[in-house]
Amino acid sequence: MERRERREFSVRRTSNACMQQRLLREEVLCLRSRHFSHRFEIPQSGIMEVSMKKILDLISEEVQKGFEKAGYAPELGRVTISNRPDLCEYQCNGAMAGAKQYKKAPIMIANDVAAALAGSEVFSKVAAVAPGFLNLDVREAFLTSYLKGMESHAKFGLEMPKNPEKVIIDYGGPNIAKPLHVGHLRSAVIGESVKRILRYCGHEVIGDIHMGDWGQPLGLVITELREHQPDLIYFDESYTGEYPKEAPFTVSELEELYPTASKKSKEDEAYKARAMEVTYKMQSGVRGYRAIWKHILEVSVADLRKNYANLNVDFDLWKGESDVHDLIPDMVAYMKEEGYAHESEGALVVDVKEDTDTKEIPPCMILKSDGAALYNTTDLATILERMNTMHPDRLIYLTDKRQELYFEQVFRCARKTKLVTPKTRLDWIGFGTMNGKDGKPFKTRDGGVMRLDLLVKETTDEMYRKITENREMPEEEAKKTAKLIALSALKYGDLSNQASKDYAFDIERFTSFEGDTGPYILYTIVRIKSILAKFKEQGGSLAELELKDAGSGAEKALVMQLTAFNSAMEGACAEIAPHRICAYIYDLANAFNRFYHETKILAEEDNGKKEGLLALLVLTRDVLETCIDVLGFGAPERM
Ligand code: ARG
Repeated sequence: MERRERREFSVRRTSNACMQQRLLREEVLCLRSRHFSHRFEIPQSGIMEVSMKKILDLISEEVQKGFEKAGYAPELGRVTISNRPDLCEYQCNGAMAGAKQYKKAPIMIANDVAAALAGSEVFSKVAAVAPGFLNLDVREAFLTSYLKGMESHAKFGLEMPKNPEKVIIDYGGPNIAKPLHVGHLRSAVIGESVKRILRYCGHEVIGDIHMGDWGQPLGLVITELREHQPDLIYFDESYTGEYPKEAPFTVSELEELYPTASKKSKEDEAYKARAMEVTYKMQSGVRGYRAIWKHILEVSVADLRKNYANLNVDFDLWKGESDVHDLIPDMVAYMKEEGYAHESEGALVVDVKEDTDTKEIPPCMILKSDGAALYNTTDLATILERMNTMHPDRLIYLTDKRQELYFEQVFRCARKTKLVTPKTRLDWIGFGTMNGKDGKPFKTRDGGVMRLDLLVKETTDEMYRKITENREMPEEEAKKTAKLIALSALKYGDLSNQASKDYAFDIERFTSFEGDTGPYILYTIVRIKSILAKFKEQGGSLAELELKDAGSGAEKALVMQLTAFNSAMEGACAEIAPHRICAYIYDLANAFNRFYHETKILAEEDNGKKEGLLALLVLTRDVLETCIDVLGFGAPERM
């Protein structure tokens, strides 16, 4: 009754055209879950309420009531998943924690709580065991009701933040005119996933590629180009006409320039001096040099777009260091005027050390002694620009671990010079190295730096070989499928590790259909899809399925694992930790496969039961697909 009243109230308050439809939908949801909402007070999908509590919170609330009823502090009733699944499903250790406070043996408290929880609609078993644990099993009906709630809510009932944040994620960070190599893989893969996780969890997220497109390397590339083609019109400074639209080089020609130039500049002082002069000309806007720079940018970006698209990585902003070049003089003047920056050995620096430091934090250098801007300067100017134009609440950066001190300095400097507000959150995620099987940074067979496109190709070829080995599949489909699975292998292989750790790239392991791998997860999804497809072939309809109370054993374990979805997703978001999603789906896939091997599904004779099982399959598929989507890959229909 209460629910009905609340709904009518919101109907009166809201009067838009789609209300009719939403009401209809709500009516259905309400009917489906009324039984449940009364008993367990899970907020149902209403017009105002769209999320559900986490299962552990609900279970804890029930146990807290038990503590209270027995005369103890409810806070003691915190429940966790059992660490002895052979004994029980969930557990509460609150009686032990309360022993001192109540000057009682823990087992006495546990006994009291167990008695108070007798007849609970949540628990089928509450056992007090020595020295004072509460071992808990939940009722199948309780779990099923929870699953029904997940089914009917957007995002499986995931709670949305009260104050969503505007977040800018700075990831990818390629340097133009240089090919992407394996070192760029992690930033792109982890950054993309972090972006998707935060977005899924209700934040407004903007991904910015932040290209290295401005510094000395560009000067080197242009210098080397000039050595090869000195007669190019761009280098004739008396020329005042228009420049050609087409770049005078292809991307592969471009990529050859930097390594040569870099080598020469280390060996040849005069060359180095020429390169510095060229850099200066490009940065200060000498027409021809600027025009060549623009060609380099365009040719590189076109190639980068292709490469990132191949990785299913996509950026909202394609900005770079060059975009903030013009902001630097004013920013530097401001830092000087406000007294933040001072001269030190000819350079301009901002002191960022703090009294509590346990290690030496050197000053943040703003200008070199020759007056040139540095990597730091650009990053600070970029913060300024982001704050001014987008007003983010939070900035997240992804780079390799070696930049830790650097970001510490930049963040401190940004705070001290008030480029950000005191409330702006600044986060840096430093990731470890991708090593080869020998434990050293991953290299090509002949010891060179591995290009990223080559790594993707080799993984895709290996996948293609595997899937066509024992199966007939049309060529086109096999190619597409191989690409999808290869991406899952690469991305899952990376994301399943805690970002800060190094990991070994092992193509055999990553592409295996067994174990903690991307292909195993996809295999599980495809297995579900093929059962559902068969059901449809036999004339069944997925729209009419309805979950039934979970059985015991493997089925119940699968159901329990599904109910943990929102806690895994929320945890991954709070900790910026894609590996938590990987761990969750690995457990979920295992739970599903165990269930699959132990259960008759399509062969089940009881139709109602069969439809309940199929409904469980649909939900498992949807949760798995949602999770791989936030990890940044997808599943094929067959494999
Ligand atoms: N281009 C840089 C590099 O290759 C990475 C940029 C990281 N982002 C940043 N805002 N500094 O190391």
